[in-house]
Amino acid sequence: METTPWWRDAVVYEIYVRSFADASGDGTGDLPGIRDRLPYLAELGVDAIWLTPFYPSPMADGGYDVADYRDVDSLFGSLADFDDLVADAHAHGLRLMVDIVPNHSSSAHPWFQKALAAPRVSQERERYMFRDGGSEGRGSGHGEPNNWLSTFGGPAWTQVPDGQWYLHLFAPEQPDFNWRNPEVREEFLDVLRFWLDRGVDGFRIDVAMGLIKAEGLPDTDPGFTSRSPIWSRPEVHDIYRDWRRVLDSYPGTRVAIGEVWTDSAEDLALYVRPDELHQSFNFAWLEAPWSATAFRKVIDDTLKAVASPTWVLSNHDVVRHVTRYGQGSLDPQAGPARARAALLSMLALPGSAYLYQGEELGLPEVTDLPPEARQDPIFARSNGEVPGRDGCRVPLPWSGTEPPYGFGSGGSWLPQPENWADLTAERQAADPSSTLWFYRRALQTRRELRGTLPDAITWLESPEETLFFRRGRLLCVINCGEGAVALPPHDQVLITSGPLDGTALPADTAAWLLTG
Ligand code: GLC
Repeated sequence: METTPWWRDAVVYEIYVRSFADASGDGTGDLPGIRDRLPYLAELGVDAIWLTPFYPSPMADGGYDVADYRDVDSLFGSLADFDDLVADAHAHGLRLMVDIVPNHSSSAHPWFQKALAAPRVSQERERYMFRDGGSEGRGSGHGEPNNWLSTFGGPAWTQVPDGQWYLHLFAPEQPDFNWRNPEVREEFLDVLRFWLDRGVDGFRIDVAMGLIKAEGLPDTDPGFTSRSPIWSRPEVHDIYRDWRRVLDSYPGTRVAIGEVWTDSAEDLALYVRPDELHQSFNFAWLEAPWSATAFRKVIDDTLKAVASPTWVLSNHDVVRHVTRYGQGSLDPQAGPARARAALLSMLALPGSAYLYQGEELGLPEVTDLPPEARQDPIFARSNGEVPGRDGCRVPLPWSGTEPPYGFGSGGSWLPQPENWADLTAERQAADPSSTLWFYRRALQTRRELRGTLPDAITWLESPEETLFFRRGRLLCVINCGEGAVALPPHDQVLITSGPLDGTALPADTAAWLLTG
C-alpha cells in the first residue's frame, strides 16, 4: 500500500544551534544541549528537527561561513556528539536534517586559502569566482568587475593583493564557489554522502537559488528579483537533479528542502519538479502583513503552483512574527494573539510546516540589544543603520526567573531580556493557558487528523477580513478584522487560538471546527 512520505505533511522545528541550549557552559548552544532537550521536542509534537550549521567556522556569519564541511566545530561538540544526537533523535521518533551551505565557503576554508596563494590563472582560483577588475569607476566606483551588491550591504566584490577581485554575495568572509567547475560539484556530492552515511534524514539547502551566476556576470538592476543574473539561473536545476540521485540512492526517504527566495510561486515550483528537491521554503506568508486578503492570496497562489507546499512564519533571518504582527497595533496582546491564529491557520493547510525555535513560547523579537552585543554582520556592514538578525536569535529561556534562564551555566552569547521569566518553557509547561500548551494541543490535533484530510481546500463565503476554508471535515476560520464574527455551522470546536466570545470568533483569533 502506498503511504504518504513523511516529509509531505511533517512539522519541522528549526534549531538555531547557537541559541537553543548550552550543555558545556560556554554561553553558546551546542549538540549535547540539543540532545538533553529531545524529550521537550518530542512532547511538543514535531516530526523532525533541522539544525543550522555546526561545522568548523570562524563565525563571521553565525556558522554560515563553513571552513570544513565534514566536521563539528568544537564550540558545538564533536562528530561523536553528532552521532549520538542522530541516534537519540531517532529513538525519540524525530527525523534530523542538517543545513548545507553550498553557495559559499568561509574564507578560512583550505580551498580559499590555497586560492589566495595561487597565481591569477590557476585551478585553485577556478574553484571560486575570481575576476579581473573592470574599468575605473565601475561597480561601486573602485573598478569592481560589475555592479553586484552584497546581500549584507556594500559591494559584492573584494580585491586581493594581486589586483583580482573575488565575488561574495554575502560577507567578504564568505567567498562564492564557482559551480560551473565540476570539482566543486563532486566535492558537494561527497559532502552529502558524508552526512547521509551518518544517518541524517535530509538537508536544508542554504541560498539554493544562488549557486549559478549568469555567464559573463553582467550588471544587474538593484533590488531583488528572482530572475536576474544572480538568482535562479536555469542551470541551477541540474545541480539538484544530481543531488536527488544521491538522496534516492540511500535507504529510507532522505529529503532536501531549498531556501529559495523568489517573487513568484511559479518560480518556486521549478525547484520541486519530481526529479529535483522535495520541497522549497515558501516565504510568501512570512512576507505578508496581518491581513485576510494577503493570506488568501498567498494560499491560493501557493496551492495553485506547488504540489507539496511548505508554510513558515518565522526563522533565524527575520523579525519574529509575534512582533511583526503586533506592529501598528496599540494592544500589546495583538501580536501574540495573531501569531497563534496564524499558526493554527498554517497548520490546517495541506503540506508541511516549519517552526522556528521559541515561537512555541511566543517569544517576541528582542529589539533593544546593546550595539556592542550585536554580532550579525549586517549590523556592522551597515554602520549600525540596519539592526540585523540578532533580535530573533537570542538564546531560549528554559527555566528560572533571571538570565540566562536555564540556557546554560555560563551566561548567553546574546543578552536575554530581564522580563522573560514568564516566557520560560518551565513556567509555561505549568500553565495550560500558555502558548506552549497551545502549540502542543495544535500539533497533537493535527496528528490526530493526519491522513484523514484531502489535499485540496475550498473557500467558504465569509465576512470581510476573515477567511473560512474547508479541508474535508475540517473547517478553519481566522478573523483578521476588528470585531467578532459568527462561526459558520459546525458540529464541534476542535481547538481555538484564543477564547471564543460566546459562540462568536473574536478579532485576532482562529479556530478549527469539525463538520459532518
Ligand atoms: C541564508 C541563511 C542566512 C545566512 C545566508 C548566507 O539566507 O539563512 O542566515 O546569513 O544564507 O549564508
